[in-house]
Amino acid sequence: MVRPPPRRPGPCPAQVVPTIGSKELVALLPFLLGIGEGDTVVFPRTAYPTYEVGARMVDATPFASDDPAEWPEGTRLVWINSPGNPDGRVWSAEELARAVARARELGAVIAGDECYAELGWEAPWDAEPIPSLLDPRVTGGDATGVLAAYSLSKQSNLAGYRAAFLAGDEQLIASIGNARKHFGLMTPTPVQAAMVAALGDDAHVEEQKELYRQRRRVLLPAVQNAGFSVDRSEAGLYLWATEGRDAWDSIGRLAEIGILAGPGPSTVSPAPATCASP
Ligand SMILES: Cc1ncc(COP(=O)(O)O)c(C=O)c1O
Repeated sequence: MVRPPPRRPGPCPAQVVPTIGSKELVALLPFLLGIGEGDTVVFPRTAYPTYEVGARMVDATPFASDDPAEWPEGTRLVWINSPGNPDGRVWSAEELARAVARARELGAVIAGDECYAELGWEAPWDAEPIPSLLDPRVTGGDATGVLAAYSLSKQSNLAGYRAAFLAGDEQLIASIGNARKHFGLMTPTPVQAAMVAALGDDAHVEEQKELYRQRRRVLLPAVQNAGFSVDRSEAGLYLWATEGRDAWDSIGRLAEIGILAGPGPSTVSPAPATCASP
């Protein structure tokens, strides 16, 4: 089949700004939003560490919570990570809508970190698209105060390209994009061209997903047969597993048999857990 040549990147639409992978954006967003001392940044209880790093970098108060009713006055930014790293939790459109409503009540920006959105494994997410924070069922058709970060690192295995973008509220995107230019955080043109090509091609995403699926088919029963129970993990790249004992004991046991896993010894976890990635 003859493929059309990849389109050259043109000017970005007003609701999108490319980023240099999404990690720098996650770390810098509180700063780019003018958040500082006395403000609160909310992020998931079981979380990728960079949300907290971003909050601490600007001397804001980090607040780990998945329950919108707990989010305090003074919250200026809420991070939702669905599907979650490392627990694989997916937020339904209704749950996201409640989170957006609460963020709006607080006058906070709410940002979805959605880099695992293509990797749904268990029903209903094996068949239905995983909802984005920018879904009209979530925003009511108004993206004010809502942002979504997306990365090609997982769906296209392009982590080395640093290819990602932030989308949503036009005014926020304009001011974030403007500040990023002053900091020299522009995404190189060849990387933008690679992003355009990758986002226009669903076939390679399916192929990449099939690779992850095959690894998961091996790892999931192996971890369960080794005595771990796996919670959540319905989507994303990780298995959130526990033997019901201290995570560091499990990490030691796995290391002895040559398996490298990530510890989840947080005091807020429901049970000490361990994270294995296929
Ligand atoms: C939840 C989450 N957000 C963001 C990132 C950053 O990805 P990248 O900087 O490669 O786009 C990762 C990478 O593992 C992640 O797990």
